[in-house]
Amino acid sequence: MERSIITNYLNQNKERMLNELLDLLKIPSVSADSKFKADVIKTAEAVKQRLIEAGADKVELSETKGNPVVYGEKIIDPKKPTVIVYGHYDVQPADPINLWNSPPFEPVIKKTDIHPEGAIFARGACDDKGQMYMHVKAFELMMKTNTLPCNVKFMIEGEEEVGSSNLGPWIIENKNRLKGDVILISDTSIIANDTPSIDVGLRGLAYMEVEVTGPNRDLHSGVYGGAVANPINVLCKMIADCHDENKHITIPGFYDDVLELTKEERAEMAKAPFDLEEYKKDLDIAEEQGEKGYNSMERTGIRPTLDVNGIWGGYTGEGAKTVLPSKAFAKISMRLVPNQNSHKISELFQKHFEKTAPKSVKVKVTAHHGGEPVVVSTNSAGYNAASRAMEETYGKKPVPTRGGGSIPIVALFKKELGLDSILFGFGLDSDALHSPNEHYGLFNYYKGIETIPLFYKYFSESKK
Ligand code: BES
Ligand code: MN
Ligand code: MN
Repeated sequence: MERSIITNYLNQNKERMLNELLDLLKIPSVSADSKFKADVIKTAEAVKQRLIEAGADKVELSETKGNPVVYGEKIIDPKKPTVIVYGHYDVQPADPINLWNSPPFEPVIKKTDIHPEGAIFARGACDDKGQMYMHVKAFELMMKTNTLPCNVKFMIEGEEEVGSSNLGPWIIENKNRLKGDVILISDTSIIANDTPSIDVGLRGLAYMEVEVTGPNRDLHSGVYGGAVANPINVLCKMIADCHDENKHITIPGFYDDVLELTKEERAEMAKAPFDLEEYKKDLDIAEEQGEKGYNSMERTGIRPTLDVNGIWGGYTGEGAKTVLPSKAFAKISMRLVPNQNSHKISELFQKHFEKTAPKSVKVKVTAHHGGEPVVVSTNSAGYNAASRAMEETYGKKPVPTRGGGSIPIVALFKKELGLDSILFGFGLDSDALHSPNEHYGLFNYYKGIETIPLFYKYFSESKK
């Protein structure tokens, strides 16, 4: 396939490809909030329609216990290899909405220092509508230019942002039509627009909720304060005690299964460019922090963590109310690394919290969704095809990196389908995923559409 076929088609259809994405971004497909259910379905319908227009067959909304999976395929020859594209059409809630500079579901294009050609500002612009839609457009490009070299199956889900718990059973039920050779996913990031990279790891996740109960009712904090345990004070101390002075997690057994990297592997990792001063400046922090003995890249890439995502209780309204509350709550997540297991870690956490709680309070611990960590080999037909494709369009060989985020279903692809996933992300960590003012560079969007067909080309060639 000539590169010019790709660039010509892209240049002639750029504007439409952008407008279609903008339309998709206008539908608020927030999976965490049931009030958006109708919009979630509307988004799935839109993705289905777009896949049909691009030339896919057997396109349908396939029901799950939760939001439907958009499925579609193009089988050009059963003897040829098959690429399975995974992505998600659901998005994170837009809150806090008042921190957005423009409404989250009214996409606008603005220039930034990092994106001088412009970036699309909208919830889901990068995570994952923008990145998912690159695959639909790359497929259209290959169909319309007669250059699709192998079979393709699309599996676009609507519950990634809430843990993908209904997708596992769906995959098991649909094993037959999910026969393929590799899973291709654009839902991660590259280091910078002039420094391509490919994630070769994802962290797992164990997500817990804790409820601490002190007295049976809210009390006057003067009348009772000092003599009765305050559940918020207790919870804060319990959370603080989860780390020691070296920022090591103190839950017994927490590190038992952690796979330590060799010196050589860590040296290899350190080759990826990272500018600590830029990092601090970007986040407006005077100093980074984390587990002793590891640098920032290692702390997010190869080490497990424990973080409070939300904590509440007592009085948080205007002014001051003197109260000794009856209850305190926290949502606590732990990011996991290979070989840790989310169920085992959830259990260790629960036991630890129940055991260390003082007798003055009652503690209830429940587990939310989880996901298992993943490592991707750099020595596979899929990785090599991705690497060659990026090298060609960026003019630089991509660096293998360890992503700190999680995509819960990826471990299951391996377990149930026996397939490796290629984390072919094109976003930037600074694109404000999950935050106000999420955006996606136009450069990144078009670069993805340009690079993906080359993956198909090199992957197919290697399987001949
Ligand atoms: N696309 C992200 C994951 C990601 C982002 C991986 C950047 C690597 C780099 C995904 O949509 C996500 O946010 N996952 C959640 C998982 C969860 C809701 C179960 C996460 O990591 O918090
Ligand atoms: Mn995502
Ligand atoms: Mn996300």
